[in-house]
Amino acid sequence: MIHMKNVSKVYSNGTEALKNVTLNIERGEFVFIVGSSGAGKSTFLKLLIHEETATFGKIKVNGFDLMKIKKHKVPYLRRTMGIVFQDFRLIEKMNVYDNIAFAMRAIGAPEKLVRRRVKYVIAVVGLKGKEKRRPSELSGGEQQRVSLARALVNNPEMIIADEPTGNIDPKMSFEIMQRLVDINKNGTTVIIVTHELDIVRSFGGRVIRIDGGEIVEDKIIQPSLSPDEQPTTVLPSPDDDENKKEETKE
Ligand SMILES: Nc1ncnc2c1ncn2[C@@H]1O[C@H](COP(=O)(O)OP(=O)(O)OP(=O)(O)O)[C@@H](O)[C@H]1O
Ligand SMILES: [Mg+2]
Repeated sequence: MIHMKNVSKVYSNGTEALKNVTLNIERGEFVFIVGSSGAGKSTFLKLLIHEETATFGKIKVNGFDLMKIKKHKVPYLRRTMGIVFQDFRLIEKMNVYDNIAFAMRAIGAPEKLVRRRVKYVIAVVGLKGKEKRRPSELSGGEQQRVSLARALVNNPEMIIADEPTGNIDPKMSFEIMQRLVDINKNGTTVIIVTHELDIVRSFGGRVIRIDGGEIVEDKIIQPSLSPDEQPTTVLPSPDDDENKKEETKE
C-alpha cells in the first residue's frame, strides 16, 4: 500500500527534510506519525499525496509508482486517498452539504449517488441537522468533522490526516479520533500526524517517530484505555450506505 525505499527529500534551499527513509505501511493499518516541529512529518505526508516529489529513492502508494507517475495520473492517485487538512480548507460560500458533495461532483459522480453518499457520511461524522449551515456557523470541531466527511465521501482506501485534533478541545479530539478508529475497523488505512502524545497513548496503534528527517522509532503500542473506558460511537450500518449497493449493481 505504501512502500518507501531509501527516500530522501532535499528542498531547493538545501534543507534535507527526509533522509534515507525506508518504510512499509500495509492496507488496514492504523498509524501515528509523531516527532518534534521541523522533524519532517508534513514532508512525509506531502510525498505520499505527491504534493512534493522525492529527491532520491523509491515510493509506491496504492499501486502508483510516484517516481514515474505522469502529471495527468496524479488525480487518480488522490482519489484513492482522503486528506484531512489541518486548516480544514472548507469553502465558506457553500453550506455543509455542498462542501462535502463538492468532492464527489468534482469527479463527475451522478447527483443521485451524491445524495445517498453525502447523507451517509454526514451520519458517520455525526452532523445530521447541520447540512444547511455555512462553515462560519459551526464550531471548530464541527468544521473538522465536515473536513473528515469530505475526506470520506469518495470511499478512499486510505485516510491521511495532518494534526486532525490540532485546534479543538480534548473532548472533541477524542470524538474525532473515535471516528477514525471506527473507519479503520471498516478496513480503511488511517495515517495521522499528531503532536498530542495523550491521544497516541489513549488509542494506541503503530507509532512512527521522525527526528531530523530520519525514522528513529517504529513500534506498536497498546491503548492505555481499556475497551469499556473508550467511548463507543455507533456507525450507521453499511446497509444504509446505498452507494455500495449501487456500485455492485453497476
Ligand atoms: N518548502 C520548503 N522549502 C524549504 N524547506 C522546507 C520546506 N518545507 C519544509 N521545509 C523544511 O524541512 C524540514 C521539515 O519540515 P516539515 O514541514 O516536514 O516538518 P514537520 O515535522 O511537519 O514540522 P511541524 O510539526 O512544525 O509541522 C524543516 O527544517 C523545514 O524548515
Ligand atoms: Mg507539519
